[in-house]
Amino acid sequence: MTITVNPFFAAKRDIRTPARQLLDQPRYAKLPRAPVNRSPVPRLTSLYHFDRAGEYGDRRYPGNCGGALIRDLLLYFDARSVFDPMAGSGTCRHVCDELAISCVSGDIQGGFDAADPSAIPADRFDFVWIHPPYWRQKLYAADARDLSRAPTLDAFLERYAAVICNCANALTRNGKLAVLMGDYCDRDAGFVSLVYHTKRLAFDAGLRQCCTDIIRFSHGASSSRKVYRSSFIPGLHDVCMVFERK
Ligand SMILES: C[S@@+](CC[C@H](N)C(=O)[O-])C[C@H]1O[C@@H](n2cnc3c(N)ncnc32)[C@H](O)[C@@H]1O
Repeated sequence: MTITVNPFFAAKRDIRTPARQLLDQPRYAKLPRAPVNRSPVPRLTSLYHFDRAGEYGDRRYPGNCGGALIRDLLLYFDARSVFDPMAGSGTCRHVCDELAISCVSGDIQGGFDAADPSAIPADRFDFVWIHPPYWRQKLYAADARDLSRAPTLDAFLERYAAVICNCANALTRNGKLAVLMGDYCDRDAGFVSLVYHTKRLAFDAGLRQCCTDIIRFSHGASSSRKVYRSSFIPGLHDVCMVFERK
């Protein structure tokens, strides 16, 4: 099995190769072999590297995530009812439609505030999917309740805690909450480990993590095509964490 990796690694020996040229040349690395087990979705491992997003959601929507990971998680956890309170372009709903799974979704773009407990449906769901803003890395709605509009990290985390708490309360007894989140380097706050904060807030909400972190390779991210004047270690992944009630 092969995966695309940062072309800079492969070109380490030839530092004269122009960076732009390297960016256009995919390089391949060997993935560790996964043990055989009874998983109904054997390709779902801690390294999620599929570069085809699938025909779900709208790739032009800022922050759109491919639907393949959602599909694999729904199949793995045998989900029958799904809630996506930060739906964006509707990727999760489209996956559910394909799998004939019932899905309730909303987004602040349509006036639904996932941080407001009174907005959460009374139903219980056996799978809740959230892909929140990575604080203000991308701005979404022109609405102060949008998490991406939080003026400080503390303000973001306060609203993010409310979202996680609401999602935890919407779970059935054996339900799972999957959160896709990425760390973020902010112009003022510096490097912010939103993955760490996600776990901390989920644990505080009475959840525990129920499987390995899933490192999702960020194929097709718009930032990958940018050229920066500064030097940094590019983050090429985000992390999917799955929680359940203790
Ligand atoms: C990373 S995007 C999700 C993209 C989605 N996964 C897709 O594939 O299109 C985050 C979404 O959270 C929404 N959002 C931000 N604050 C919210 C809030 N308080 N309640 C509900 N949705 C919110 C934004 O409008 C945005 O659509």
